[in-house]
Amino acid sequence: MKINLANIKKAQKLLNKSECVAIPTETVYGLAGNAYSDKACKKIYKLKKRPQNNPLIIHYLNDQMLKKDCKFNNNFLKLYKIFCPGPITFILDLKKNSKISKIATNKKNTLAVRFPKHPVTRNLLNKLNFPLAAPSANLSSKVSAVSSSDVKDDFGKKIKYILEGGKSSIGLESTIIDIRKKPKILRLGGLDISVIEKTLNKKITINDNPSKISSPGQFKLHYSPGIPIRLNVKKNKKKEAYLSIKKIKQDKPNFYYLSKNGNLNEAAKNLYSTLRKIKKNKFKSIAVGKIPNKGLGKTINDRLQRASKF
Ligand code: TXA
Ligand code: MG
Repeated sequence: MKINLANIKKAQKLLNKSECVAIPTETVYGLAGNAYSDKACKKIYKLKKRPQNNPLIIHYLNDQMLKKDCKFNNNFLKLYKIFCPGPITFILDLKKNSKISKIATNKKNTLAVRFPKHPVTRNLLNKLNFPLAAPSANLSSKVSAVSSSDVKDDFGKKIKYILEGGKSSIGLESTIIDIRKKPKILRLGGLDISVIEKTLNKKITINDNPSKISSPGQFKLHYSPGIPIRLNVKKNKKKEAYLSIKKIKQDKPNFYYLSKNGNLNEAAKNLYSTLRKIKKNKFKSIAVGKIPNKGLGKTINDRLQRASKF
């Protein structure tokens, strides 16, 4: 994608003034602000209507920039070398002298950090002298935004600027891994955990018990298009939209598919935009067919299950 430097300059100027700007990433769009500024971080919570006990992910250009704020370990470095920049978020210990806003961390002594791959956002990060706090750019508990128009639909004029970056290439949020001691997955995401297991050469536990967890992204109702969803359904009811992993023969107006041939990466990319489209087309509920539970299909099923707790 062609990088528009004037747009990046505009985003940079606003961020330098502790304003919030929506930024493109390869996973989903983020609602970004200066992670060292209490003022900017407060604005993010307010705009998203996000509960204050839900800390923000901090976005860095590279590990050099992160050194000031977090403690590293070998497992982190192993995964960093292979998967970053990319769709993985690490939970690390904060350094005592870190300047990260306590509003962003909710006063925890850990930090969620990520190195986005999108070239527009990397160009922006390279121009800033602070990292960016950026939760997904959607209203709290709703479906994430994968294009600038999704962000506009959720926030309208409340956001000062949306940095254009086209459609997010992965379309699902990053995989979150707590890497401080024994690695555990806190949120399935855009990086398939089997490749993480191969790199670390061990089986990794998935910790998604919401009562114990420190990642509210794992709370029950989340990623919701705002209408009820029924899962593993063979046939839709009258007036219900039907969402299938692939295109099937009888094409009807209430029929939606995620990928023509059932490709799971393509399905991931189209998931949130299709859920938004169904809602926009005024359907009151969605029946979803079976989605293979492998690769990114696991993350798609995770998100749909949470969305179905409506
Ligand atoms: O792909 C992504 O991760 C996107 C893009 C914009 O980078 N961001 C994103 O942010 O999905 P958000 O805020 O929607 O989800 C971040 C999750 C939340 O569930 C939050 O609770 C968790 O990360 N989190 C943040 N700080 C944490 C911490 N210190 N320990 C455990 N979980 C944390
Ligand atoms: Mg989110």
